Amino acid sequence: MKIKKAVIPVAGKGTRFLPVTKEIPKEMIPILNKPMISLVVEEAIASGITEIIFVTARGKESIADYFDRNQALETFLELADKKSQASQIREIGEKVEIFTVRQKEQLGLGHAIKCAESLVGDEPFVVLLGDDLMENSYPATKQLIDVHEEKKGSAVIGLIQVPQEETSKYGIIDGVDLGDDLYELKSMVEKPNPADAPSDLAVPGRYVFTPEIFKYLEKIEKGKGGEYQLTDAIKLMAEEKKVFGKKMEGQRFDTGSMEGYIEATVAFSMRDKSLKEALLNAVEKYK
Ligand code: UTP
Repeated sequence: MKIKKAVIPVAGKGTRFLPVTKEIPKEMIPILNKPMISLVVEEAIASGITEIIFVTARGKESIADYFDRNQALETFLELADKKSQASQIREIGEKVEIFTVRQKEQLGLGHAIKCAESLVGDEPFVVLLGDDLMENSYPATKQLIDVHEEKKGSAVIGLIQVPQEETSKYGIIDGVDLGDDLYELKSMVEKPNPADAPSDLAVPGRYVFTPEIFKYLEKIEKGKGGEYQLTDAIKLMAEEKKVFGKKMEGQRFDTGSMEGYIEATVAFSMRDKSLKEALLNAVEKYK
């Protein structure tokens, strides 16, 4: 079955970006002039997704609004003879249908995904984290969808290799290497100490699931950090079903952290001739 739905959880509190996240959703913080969520949605669209389900929360309304039309602004830009800007803002939400569901209490990523169950229905879907950027001309989500199709509809978890000392920041897999950057999951552990980590293969925030995941999300108890962890549901699923891990090709930015956010901003600026010059001048001045 062709995958057309993406669940993007954006209900988190964004504490690493306080105080701005007191009033502005982390996912709306821009990399240059685009909110990070826009870049994540672009990856989903480039991967063939036509329906986006945001798992959202109080104070996060601006995320869905961003993908809506703003006819007053479009008219203003057209009258001001700024037609290319008018069509640029019109196009933002044209390629996808947006749905929202509220996570009433922020009980963790596993709980957030479970909130989307009735909107997902009985079909496979992808999950992208709204504060994690993956860049490649062959989009990361599409790489996983292709493995899902090859492997007759199994769940597929996107992987990146991380330095051993960073395992405590991620879900880490224990898997069998099948070659070609493909793994069969045996187990998974949330944020292990480097000494206890079963591998250096981390799960940054791209997944393909079948609706079966909801059955496992129903079974899990509160885990690490007192939250319902998606990792625990994947671990249960891997005990009963084939679950694959695929090392994703491309550049990844952890824009949920200040360091990753700065890196993405620098990388994006360096691609624009005039911004590159401004950036290098500023670095020279303030270094
Ligand atoms: P994070 O743990 O990175 O996000 O969750 P956070 O909680 O917003 O940020 P910090 O750690 O306090 O700075 C990864 C993704 O899962 C969503 C977040 O919005 C983020 O996109 N999430 C997390 C939910 O939707 N609900 C939750 O209960 C937890």
